[in-house]
Amino acid sequence: MAGKRILLIVGGGIAAYKACELIRLLRKRGHGVRCVLTSSGARFVTAMTLAALSEEPVHDSLWDLKDETEMGHIELSREADLVVVCPATADLLAKMAGGIADDLATTLLLATDKPVLAAPAMNVRMWLHPATRRNVERLRGDGVTVMEPDEGPMACGEFGPGRLPEPEAIVSAIEERLNTPFVPSAVEARGLGTVPGARTSTSLSANGKAGPLANKHILVTAGPTHEPIDPVRYIANRSSGRQGFAIAEAVARLGARVTLVAGPVSLPTPAGVERVDVETAREMAAAVEAALPAEGAVMVAAVADWRAEEAASAKIKKGASPPALALAENPDILAALARSSERPRLLIGFAAETNDVIAHAQAKRARKGCDWIVANDVSGDVMGGAENRVHLVTAEGVEDWPRMDKRAVAERLAERIAETLTKAEA
Ligand code: CTP
Repeated sequence: MAGKRILLIVGGGIAAYKACELIRLLRKRGHGVRCVLTSSGARFVTAMTLAALSEEPVHDSLWDLKDETEMGHIELSREADLVVVCPATADLLAKMAGGIADDLATTLLLATDKPVLAAPAMNVRMWLHPATRRNVERLRGDGVTVMEPDEGPMACGEFGPGRLPEPEAIVSAIEERLNTPFVPSAVEARGLGTVPGARTSTSLSANGKAGPLANKHILVTAGPTHEPIDPVRYIANRSSGRQGFAIAEAVARLGARVTLVAGPVSLPTPAGVERVDVETAREMAAAVEAALPAEGAVMVAAVADWRAEEAASAKIKKGASPPALALAENPDILAALARSSERPRLLIGFAAETNDVIAHAQAKRARKGCDWIVANDVSGDVMGGAENRVHLVTAEGVEDWPRMDKRAVAERLAERIAETLTKAEA
């Protein structure tokens, strides 16, 4: 991607120091960065640091006469290709959602005709508060990309979602956003036509998302399931969830509304994806059913085929001989969905195989009643790793894809999904 101009609004919070790393990474990738520092942001990082890293003047006041003569604040909001708010505090998100413009940063955000991406960082309770949930929902409805914060221990000593996503993840989200066609929502809403220089979008969904999958709901399952034996032990498998998460992210980037039903994995929620965490196969089956209807479903989860017939309610103590483990079969979520009256138009299964990959996948496609099987050759180090070697098995035949990064597999599959779902409509 050729160098773009980013207007970076630095909010107030302990994570503001990570904005410095973000500037460094963006510049390394050839992008220009101009910073706006809020008054609370200035309590955590200095204008001097931002100016030194960006090699551009830093703006911090609406009333700076020198700035106004050299570059008015409206112009500042328009000269960028993308406006990034990092860290986006609860207060900044609330002001953005409410259209408040009481300082330079919020005035620019209201005046801009460019896409806006916010990387939130705040205490977990603030993030989960209904007011913040409402504000995030509203901003997403307005077409703002609000990233999901990371989960983990926080500076305030609590644990949960609210940590600023890592700078590398913010850079990826920025580049993805820059690659997405954009129509300024205010212009759309008022029917004012296209502003000179604005890129036009193919379609814009009800939730403000653009792309070929706008207005489509795609359901993705990912990760392993854990089937309890007793309160401390469980049956599991080696699935990392990476491939499923990458697919959820890729279809969301193409504009889809995405529900990601995730087994127990420690992966951040991709931007723009609604995540439902589950533990067991039966919970996953219920979450899938609750998420319907959907136009497409990609079942990537490595669902445990069996569970302990009866999980012990107390820890099983070591006795003279090992206990016998009676197993019961879990529901086959994919096969059940294929038979359901709410079967998605495009139903895709994954098949992890170590031998006779294609033959097993073809048999599985017929047995499960899905449209495509992505056959996953797990004979090497694929399980839990970053790369994948897949074959796409459809009614028309078999496509062999070269060994590639799980993200690349996800992008290629997302494009195929978009192509098929839009073709079916035409
Ligand atoms: N799957 C599912 N529910 C299950 C088992 C599998 O939805 N209880 C889905 C997986 O998400 C995947 C596909 O079915 O999309 C194939 O999974 P796999 O484990 O390869 O299939 P199995 O039927 O378990 O076949 P095998 O005997 O090869 O394990």
